[in-house]
Amino acid sequence: EAAEKGGYDSYMMKEIYEQPNALTNTLIGRLHDDTGQVNLDIDLDPASFKRISIIACGTAYYAGMVGEYLIEQLARIPVDIDVASEYRYRDPLVSEHTLAIVMSQSGETIDTLEALREAKKHGAKTLGIINAKGSSMTREVDDTLYIHAGPEIGVASTKAYTSMVSAMLMLALWLGRARGTLSEDQSRELLHAARELPRLVEASLTPERVENIKAIAGKYADARDFLFLGRGVNSPTAYEGALKLKEISYIHAEAYAAGEMKHGPIALIDEHMPVVVVATESKLLEKTISNVQEVRARRGKVILVLSEGDTENARYGDDVIYVPRAHELVSPVVNAVALQLLAIFIAEKLGKDVDKPRNLAKAVTVE
Ligand code: G6P
Repeated sequence: EAAEKGGYDSYMMKEIYEQPNALTNTLIGRLHDDTGQVNLDIDLDPASFKRISIIACGTAYYAGMVGEYLIEQLARIPVDIDVASEYRYRDPLVSEHTLAIVMSQSGETIDTLEALREAKKHGAKTLGIINAKGSSMTREVDDTLYIHAGPEIGVASTKAYTSMVSAMLMLALWLGRARGTLSEDQSRELLHAARELPRLVEASLTPERVENIKAIAGKYADARDFLFLGRGVNSPTAYEGALKLKEISYIHAEAYAAGEMKHGPIALIDEHMPVVVVATESKLLEKTISNVQEVRARRGKVILVLSEGDTENARYGDDVIYVPRAHELVSPVVNAVALQLLAIFIAEKLGKDVDKPRNLAKAVTVE
């Protein structure tokens, strides 16, 4: 087993470090910078959909939330998103003009599989964004966009998340180009940003950056609760960061869209509450920083995730995690890596077995 972990203490850590490679495999052969086109080899007519429903569970659901944002931004199609266990029982509005997208690392999660069957029953076209080759879902969807992240053993998903988000970006670009909502220039800019992802994630994993996150993890590992905040395309990053932390460290963690903090969670903030804020470059950064000031005014401890070079806002953090600068629409991939590291170092500090968290299974095939 030690050999299979490739010198890392856990599969999860190995898989975190595999991300530059996994992302390369997700993107390879699919991006055509010269023409601004994306080649996904999907046998569905992009002009035929009036709405898109994204369905998933757990980490895949948060990747779907990023997808919702990207598809609406770039392809201007209405998107709704459901956790699979709700979708299958809520009598959803589906027609032959619906594209139902199921997202799943394993392709075996029973709720997602049943939700897929429900969508098909009502005539939806279906697409899987899936990692495991030949899995049950791949046999039932109309077409599959494989993420090619490679086998993921750690129960808490890491590389499948960042690869799913990248696949969603490509899908949004494909839809946007096909439907004429995205110009060739805009598309080229985003293709370029996507192509940079493996390199940016590699740069996120330099010993210096990793040590910084480990030191911060050491400072906060005794906290009882954590709050995670983010905005826009990075609000799912906050949700996924909180999920990672609770899955493997058993620390209670909640995530909110930063602007929503004042409607409840602010009541919880005191000097014992670490608040992780995703505050990388964005048109809304100023608003996020004003939320940070509200946390500080209540003596909460702020761990800021900032874009490299943002020395201006560093003063608002008790601690700062710098991440490589990235185009806002691809930044959820880069930012997720920093939060994976924060979670794993806190869990390790607490002596938890990160590969086999209690009560959790890699794929949930019972209802
Ligand atoms: C389980 C795993 C999670 C995973 C979720 C969905 O709860 O512990 O890590 O995100 O299932 O799995 P899937 O294979 O459908 O992506």
